[in-house]
Amino acid sequence: MTERTVLEARGLVVRYPGHPPVQAVTDVSLEIRAGETVALVGESGSGKSSVARAVAGIEKAAEGEVLFDGEPVRPLGVRRRPLALTGIQMVFQDPATSLNPRRRIGDQIADGARTARARGAEGSRPEEWLERVGLDPAWTGRFPHQFSGGQKQRIAIARALAARPRLLVADEPISALDASTQTSVAGLMRDLIAEVGAGMLFISHDLAVVRRIADRTLVMYGGRVMEQGPTDRVWEAPRHPYTQALLAAIPEPDGRGRIPAAPSAADRAAWSEVPPAG
Ligand SMILES: Nc1ncnc2c1ncn2[C@@H]1O[C@H](COP(=O)(O)OP(=O)(O)O)[C@@H](O)[C@H]1O
Ligand SMILES: [Mg+2]
Repeated sequence: MTERTVLEARGLVVRYPGHPPVQAVTDVSLEIRAGETVALVGESGSGKSSVARAVAGIEKAAEGEVLFDGEPVRPLGVRRRPLALTGIQMVFQDPATSLNPRRRIGDQIADGARTARARGAEGSRPEEWLERVGLDPAWTGRFPHQFSGGQKQRIAIARALAARPRLLVADEPISALDASTQTSVAGLMRDLIAEVGAGMLFISHDLAVVRRIADRTLVMYGGRVMEQGPTDRVWEAPRHPYTQALLAAIPEPDGRGRIPAAPSAADRAAWSEVPPAG
């Protein structure tokens, strides 16, 4: 049986006001099914965060539509988010963005569980979530500053998942972590979303991690999706010249490496001229 589609975006366009306005995202379509991890890769400024925010209902799409569980996502202020939209949770690069420094972590995870119960979903105890993200369940009374960056990100993940999301949008969740913990945190996220049956949009510069955890990968360049497909196919037989350049620039055959910083103007022009592939 095919897993249910959790998120569907069609022809997404995101523009920011200004002189001139910036079109950050052009005609992006994507689909995420329950239990599936979909990665978004591309250099800085390619529009990944704009897609993430539009998908999560934080940014308004100028054109196109976003359907979450079949219903249109309409952005409202965070405080006025309709209950149904709490089924989309976000994890950011800096866990300080999602954690309140003045509240005990157990209370913050309990907030997530309350949100879950308000939607009629199961709300597990904070201790259980701490354990699931690899932390000591006895730490519920501690405050965020008592933890390392990696531990704080695990707490932010626990808080987000305690809300029993159907979709987790993770915008560079491992970029600020020590190299030694990046892979384990990413693997944990992937395992937990599969366990709770949520879909995940995972944004990362780390192509080795993406190759390891993503079922499908979308490659963005200049606000457009240049190529998308099953992760193994994209790595083994990249079709678009941008994807080819991206992967060719990676030193290790197992896909370890990061997005190269400064391609030439000629390369940029060539990539933009080739229509999206795959
Ligand atoms: N709030 C904003 N106002 C104006 N321009 C923005 C805003 N956010 C992003 N941009 C611009 O939109 C483009 C895409 O940005 P972003 O979505 O953050 O890309 P990425 O996450 O891939 O680095 C960039 O040119 C960026 O400067
Ligand atoms: Mg970004």
